[in-house]
Amino acid sequence: MDYFEIIGQNHLQGELEINGSKNAVLPLIAASILNENSVQKFTNVPLLSDTLTILKLLEEMGSSVKKSENFISIDNSTLKNPFAPYDLVKTMRASFYVLGPLIAKFGKARISDPGGCSWGPRPIDFHIKGLELLGVDFTRDHGYLSACTKGLKGSNISFPKISVGATGNVVMAAVLAKGKTKIFNASSEPEIQQLCNYLNIMGAQISGIGSNELVIEGVSSLTTNKPIEVIPDRIEAGTFLIAAAAVGGEVQLSNVVVDHLSMIIQKLRETNVQIETNSSSVRIKSNPSTLKAVDLETSEYPGFPTDLQAQWMSLMSVVNGDSKLKENIYFDRFTHVPELNRLGCNISLNKNTAKIKGQSYLSGAQIMSTDIRASAALIIAALCAEGLSRIDRIYHIDRGYYKIEDKLSKIGANIVRKKT
Ligand code: UD1
Repeated sequence: MDYFEIIGQNHLQGELEINGSKNAVLPLIAASILNENSVQKFTNVPLLSDTLTILKLLEEMGSSVKKSENFISIDNSTLKNPFAPYDLVKTMRASFYVLGPLIAKFGKARISDPGGCSWGPRPIDFHIKGLELLGVDFTRDHGYLSACTKGLKGSNISFPKISVGATGNVVMAAVLAKGKTKIFNASSEPEIQQLCNYLNIMGAQISGIGSNELVIEGVSSLTTNKPIEVIPDRIEAGTFLIAAAAVGGEVQLSNVVVDHLSMIIQKLRETNVQIETNSSSVRIKSNPSTLKAVDLETSEYPGFPTDLQAQWMSLMSVVNGDSKLKENIYFDRFTHVPELNRLGCNISLNKNTAKIKGQSYLSGAQIMSTDIRASAALIIAALCAEGLSRIDRIYHIDRGYYKIEDKLSKIGANIVRKKT
């Protein structure tokens, strides 16, 4: 199994190009099932293990896929078997995104219940309720959900809480439903905006994109032969910005959408980091000894993303002063805390709020990744620590960050991938 060895305290200096977004490409690939034009091409694709997992799922259902660096082409004309098996759904919850498109296209689907994940339960009740309101019937057996419909009908759907996954799934079914669907409390995340824009390119009629109220006029079919460019990954960009702030140095990131990073940039500026932006790049300059602690809480877009909560804790561990960080999306998303504390961080938890002591003395240790973003936080803390760290189970990081060790090495970090 692969692991990272990191020797900390090298300043970061240089330029990096940000990849296409993982959280955008996964629902886009699922939505390609709806394209009546047989081949869909995507560019700026991050070929991460999560991307390969959803492509494998499509292949298992009958599609054929071609891929090369940053590019995929999917032929769904041979997709005949709307069945998503346990192995592929358990590896990656986003596989569940195929449910909406499969029901819309075939009127039926059988999909493994995704269950929980490493940081606790991740329910799917909003997906089910929303699809039921569109006219889908569900039965459960042996850990699977079977869905069928005699015809999708538009409806008014109000989510109790904003959900990225449920919005994506329901939108992908509602676009082919008869009549109008309104979704209240919909996700406005950039990745859902891109999904809706792609569906509109295929002929869907979705309005309100980027707001929390989507209105969808159902159409009878969807098609395009236009290649789709995946938006830049705001979470990868945010991770490198936080890393540069914590470790110190000067780093420029290109291929970003600065608007998508507004809250991250605002919070970083509050710590006293210097940040300059232009249309598609961002430059950060940091001397960690001059930075101050900043409290924050995670929330839906345009708030501070839960996917950068863990990384922010590493930064707060090395700045001046103590801070509080409240996790509002997934209350138990703290598996990184004990591992960060092994590196010398001083983080205590009270329900969904972490108290982080600043200016902690971090020293290298053997630690373990527990999920994608937790792994990124461990790397940042190890880059700040004195001496050698070893991070095990880095297959988690490969799910969400493409060759992160190459990118960090390029800007001066001492990080090496090794095999046991
Ligand atoms: C969430 C994040 C997303 C992040 C992803 C992976 C938000 C709004 N969503 O997306 O940015 O990339 O984790 O880290 O920040 N919920 C239910 N029932 C459901 C669906 C969701 O109760 O059927 C609740 C969840 O428990 C959670 C909240 O709604 O508290 C948001 O969940 P959702 O956005 O669906 O989660 P993901 O799609 O996994």
